[in-house]
Amino acid sequence: MMRPFLVGIALLSLFAPSATAQKVELSIDASRTGAKVDRNLFGQFAEHLGHGIYEGIWVGPDSSIPNTRGIRNDVVAALKAIKVPNVRWPGGCFADEYHWRKGIGPQRAVTLNPNWGGVIEPNTFGTHEFMDFLDQIGAEAYVSVNVGSGTPQEAAEWLEYMTAAQPTTLAKERAANDHPAPYKVASLGIGNESWDCGGNMTPDYYLSQMKIYSRFVRNFNPAQQDAQQMLKIAVGPGGSEPRWTEWTDTIMKAYQHHTWSWDINGLSMHSYTVVKWPPAFKSEGFGETEYAQILKSTLEMDDLINQHSSIMDKYDPQKKVALIVDEWGSWYAPLPGSNPGFLVQQNSLRDAILAALNLNIFARHGDRVRGANIAQMINVLQAMIMTDKEKMVLTPTYYVYKMYVPFQDSTFVPVTFDAGHYTQDNISLPRVDAIAAKGKDGKLWVEITNVDPNQPAEIELNLTGISPKSAAGETLSAPKVDSVNTFDAPKTVVPKAISSRLQGGNLTLRLEPKSVTVLSVEQ
Ligand code: AHR
Repeated sequence: MMRPFLVGIALLSLFAPSATAQKVELSIDASRTGAKVDRNLFGQFAEHLGHGIYEGIWVGPDSSIPNTRGIRNDVVAALKAIKVPNVRWPGGCFADEYHWRKGIGPQRAVTLNPNWGGVIEPNTFGTHEFMDFLDQIGAEAYVSVNVGSGTPQEAAEWLEYMTAAQPTTLAKERAANDHPAPYKVASLGIGNESWDCGGNMTPDYYLSQMKIYSRFVRNFNPAQQDAQQMLKIAVGPGGSEPRWTEWTDTIMKAYQHHTWSWDINGLSMHSYTVVKWPPAFKSEGFGETEYAQILKSTLEMDDLINQHSSIMDKYDPQKKVALIVDEWGSWYAPLPGSNPGFLVQQNSLRDAILAALNLNIFARHGDRVRGANIAQMINVLQAMIMTDKEKMVLTPTYYVYKMYVPFQDSTFVPVTFDAGHYTQDNISLPRVDAIAAKGKDGKLWVEITNVDPNQPAEIELNLTGISPKSAAGETLSAPKVDSVNTFDAPKTVVPKAISSRLQGGNLTLRLEPKSVTVLSVEQ
């Protein structure tokens, strides 16, 4: 029944007309604002792994694939559209075996990549190519230095090579390699998973190493001295077990008493949606139970953030140190026939919903979580883009990132709602999820995920603190939970426009089952 002034507007719906829509009321007071939704929550991760860099980004200047100085034009155009804020590089486990000198200058050393398939690493994509790539897509550098098998001196010299403006020998070498101006390095990762592939260190051993790197690995770029200072990110936890609470505790306890000679601005956290190791879930050709299992598992991200944030709060109540979730995403069984060391998987509508749920968790924790990097950008794990020689396809996850662009550097606005339940095989999940934020454009942006794969959701938006005139946006769904985009059928999972007229103070939206919707409210 329609209430006075609450006239619902039915939006685009592709689901069967017979499906019963479940009602959910979302209340948003636009005058109540929370933390910033940092654009760096939408960061990417690109490791020298499989076809993440070679073929995915780098094809070389002589390739028949259209490129600019060796970097594929189609990939650059696609990434520009999602406004990638930063790219974490060169790894991952690869970072702790990377020696930057092999990737500069006209003669590149040919090495091996023992972590990922033992393949040849040509080093043709090195520092200059990475920075050129960032320049082309408009993103900042998040460089992880080698703590595991490198030295503080090697890392310090790399930073001097990249950032020194004065005519030091290293700066002159950079200029001789065609880049006289110093590069900017927005963030510095001090090692990667140092409790595992990064050197199997104890928390205390890592702490003493980290302090040395924090002290000596300096950024000399004059533009980064007062404003835009480089953020130093220490290795943090990789799960919920006691060894990782001990890790967080050790680093943060030391931080509480840190002196002028070392500092950190972030603690990294890695958490993949895998259910259990080794990854065994199929990335395509799965059913509703696997859909529910994976989404149930991904929601554990919230508990994990709560767990480590509360340890951080103990030592850093002012939340100066950010929690940076710089590796996350789905990790499934390798696609049959692919090199298992290349971590190739399909990307389905389930991944789009998984991405939305995690981005919403990060946004809700915006006071502490100020960065996140999905793993990985191209051709690896939960990728934005897949390529095969000259072909490129955008994944469902890519479209979620595109739809969420207005949330970059927005201000969180709390939403209250009773999500209800969706149950499959005794697996119970919140049926809907939602966030809202005031965008930089001054508009109120709302995201609503309908997790239920069978029932549409009838959403009633109760807005206060705003005089809305209209609302419009995009919705992403597909026929099946495991629908994918392929090179031959690239438009199976793509967003569609939705729009509404507003009458009175409220909107009602009928959302498709298994959908992600982002809309702005015009006032
Ligand atoms: O993203 C793949 C790998 O997962 C990274 O190299 C490593 O840091 C993590 O274990």
